[in-house]
Amino acid sequence: MEKYIVKGGGKLSGEVVVSGAKNAVVAILPATILSDEPCVIENIPSISDVTITLQIMSEMGAKIRMINKTTVEIDTRPLQNMPIPYEKAKLMRATTYFLGTLLGRFHSAHVSMPGGCNLGDRPIDQHLKCFSALGAQCELDKGMINLRADKLIGNQIFFDKNSVGATINGIMAAVKAEGLTIIENAAKEPHVVDLANCLNSMGADIIGAGTDVIKIRGVKELHGTTYSVIPDQIEAGTFMAAAAATRGNLLIKNVIPKHLEPITNKLLKIGVQVEQYDDAVRVIGGDNYVGTTIKTQPHPGFPTDMQPQMAAVLTCARGTSMVTESIFDNRFRYVDELRRMGANISVEGRVAVIEGVDQLKCAPVKATDLRAGAALIIAALSAEGTSEIYDIFHVERGYENMEIKLKSLGANIVKASEPDPNNEVSQKKAI
Ligand code: EPU
Repeated sequence: MEKYIVKGGGKLSGEVVVSGAKNAVVAILPATILSDEPCVIENIPSISDVTITLQIMSEMGAKIRMINKTTVEIDTRPLQNMPIPYEKAKLMRATTYFLGTLLGRFHSAHVSMPGGCNLGDRPIDQHLKCFSALGAQCELDKGMINLRADKLIGNQIFFDKNSVGATINGIMAAVKAEGLTIIENAAKEPHVVDLANCLNSMGADIIGAGTDVIKIRGVKELHGTTYSVIPDQIEAGTFMAAAAATRGNLLIKNVIPKHLEPITNKLLKIGVQVEQYDDAVRVIGGDNYVGTTIKTQPHPGFPTDMQPQMAAVLTCARGTSMVTESIFDNRFRYVDELRRMGANISVEGRVAVIEGVDQLKCAPVKATDLRAGAALIIAALSAEGTSEIYDIFHVERGYENMEIKLKSLGANIVKASEPDPNNEVSQKKAI
């Protein structure tokens, strides 16, 4: 078991380079299964979700070669259509993307119901609605989602719920289907656009990604590509929040400032200075922040994946802040942990009410999911004393070298191992 030990109180300063976007790369890597030639994908982050995705593809027979630390060459021509078992699917939500891509290529797919962050109910009815509309039979058997189609034929699909995952799966299943597919009420997140751009660079015919309506005209073949993944909007936002919480001064490089606007706007509102450049933002913290209201919304609204980190900043903003989570029904599990650090937060359903306190205090805390872990790091960096953050494997799913990047900005953070109390051997060692 690994943990972070964070001595808080210092201001972060310096420059940090943001890595490739987790939620784009976990779609783009499986999308190469649709290509009839090898693909080179650049700017991939070194995170465990990427390792798992590449491992699944390699076990299915894809030839994978790391050209350098951030570039991978993938040849999926030898890949066989194999079931993706529970042991793999439980590790990350994005294993659902193998449904769309395997269905698109082999007209059948068998993937165990996915895991990922526990944020409440996360059904996949809209994914299945889309696959059915394209002509696939979908059934659930012993925890496996089984899809089969004689052929895939384009159709018009209206999503009842705005879903990133269903939109991405719909695009992947439709790219080689016969005729035109129209997806209405599509998700507009930057990673949806990035996936569509990547597939178009392979010869797909997708228009409208980034709007409510995406039109996909099926093509027979896709060729190879060299494609660079967009920078991670949420990693950038997390450093912005860390700069704000520690009253620091950070230049955050390799970002798309437009993607950061909902975060930038909230920071400006509470009293943080943000300067925008072509592909960087500078965030300068202040001494006095005022509380605000935040409501998470699909893009271009305030991203749910930044909700816990912003809540951490607001724990020390003057007055009352209200944070409403409108995407997931259980994304406040980190609140108990922040309370252990002295935050004054109450949760009523999907609304957290935060009464600003002068200063957070150190405590042992546990990352309950990926962004919760990021929020706790931000809180610990700004708190008085030394905190310990447990279950940091959640953080490593989605942030590349988090503690190394933070250390380079002056943070006092170390990663340490400690015996797993559930493991008999390590228990004996501990004695
Ligand atoms: N939903 C349904 N039916 C479906 C699909 C979704 O009701 O078939 C609901 C969900 O329960 C949720 C809402 O629709 O209430 C939005 O879910 P969505 O499908 O958009 O989420 P996702 O695809 O499972 C992705 C990201 C999440 C991010 C959400 C929202 C990936 C791999 N994951 O999840 O990222 O929070 O979109 O933007 O892209 C994270 O990075 O920390 C993370 C959790």
